[in-house]
Amino acid sequence: MLYVPGDDDRKLAKADASGADSVVLDLEDSVAEQNRPSARTKVRRFLADRPPASRHYQLWVRVNALDDAALTDLAAVVGGAPDGIVLPKVNGPDDVRRLEHMLDALEVRDGVEPGRTKICAVATETPAAVLRLHEYSTTSLTRLVALNWGAEDLSAAIGASTNLDSSGQWALTYRWARSAVLLAAKAAGVQAIETVHVNYRDTDGLRATSRSAAQEGFTGRAAIHPAQVGPINEDFAPSSEDVRLAEKIVSAFESNADGIGTVGIDGQMFDIPHLKRARNILALAELINHQAPQ
Ligand code: COA
Ligand code: MG
Repeated sequence: MLYVPGDDDRKLAKADASGADSVVLDLEDSVAEQNRPSARTKVRRFLADRPPASRHYQLWVRVNALDDAALTDLAAVVGGAPDGIVLPKVNGPDDVRRLEHMLDALEVRDGVEPGRTKICAVATETPAAVLRLHEYSTTSLTRLVALNWGAEDLSAAIGASTNLDSSGQWALTYRWARSAVLLAAKAAGVQAIETVHVNYRDTDGLRATSRSAAQEGFTGRAAIHPAQVGPINEDFAPSSEDVRLAEKIVSAFESNADGIGTVGIDGQMFDIPHLKRARNILALAELINHQAPQ
């Protein structure tokens, strides 16, 4: 998900060729307050120039927080039929529900297909939000498709002077919030999206952290610079070795007529959870091949 400041023409002009699965037109933290009105106009025009049927990638909008200018932002952009809204600084599923109700009304007002606008919640930007993450598993939210986590606003809200430990890794509070988002997303049946790598010239760090996020079960990542998109796409896609092994596992189970729950391949034991994971890998590889830009 590539973030593009909504008031910046030069950057907006780079969105179509970015190669990102989703571009997030930002009205929040990358736009100065005095530029918000012009950013809303630019974002609405950007959407209108790219009607849904013509899009080869998804177009999302990050609005301001609900207790800030969210409603003004939404009133300006929903008629452009964005694929989804990124909602920052949520305090929990109740905030996502409030956004759902706003979208219900605005879609009707603007003649947009009811329910088309999906939601990605940035779920760890306040301390209360982190403590309530478990509630996503028991709240039915029809538009929610992803949870993203972020460490920058959380550390500001906590009053911390850093979010890193002495080794340069996320400090425990942020690692804990990250793991809780991963579990909450999976429990709610939505995607878990890894946070940004803010040092956008550090490709090695981006790649190492993307690979481990993908291995842990995150399905995508936020990007802040076009140069981050290619590496992220590559690191979150199953590798050719992953696909080959998954094919072997699935075919070993399929040729096992007795329905035995475990198989051996090259001296390794694989059982039902491995079969499930192998099927997930093949489904993801197929989806990526299918969606690859022409
Ligand atoms: N989307 C689209 N284009 C971008 C871009 C982005 N997020 N970030 C940089 N570019 C463009 C630049 O405009 C530049 O093109 P140009 O020469 O035609 O103007 C080109 O890519 C190379 O950029 P570069 O010079 O390396 O970086 P920069 O100094 O212009 O910008 C940032 C650096 C961090 C300010 C910029 O990447 C940015 O604004 N990122 C998004 C920040 C954001 O949205 N934050 C909120 C989400 S956490
Ligand atoms: Mg922020």
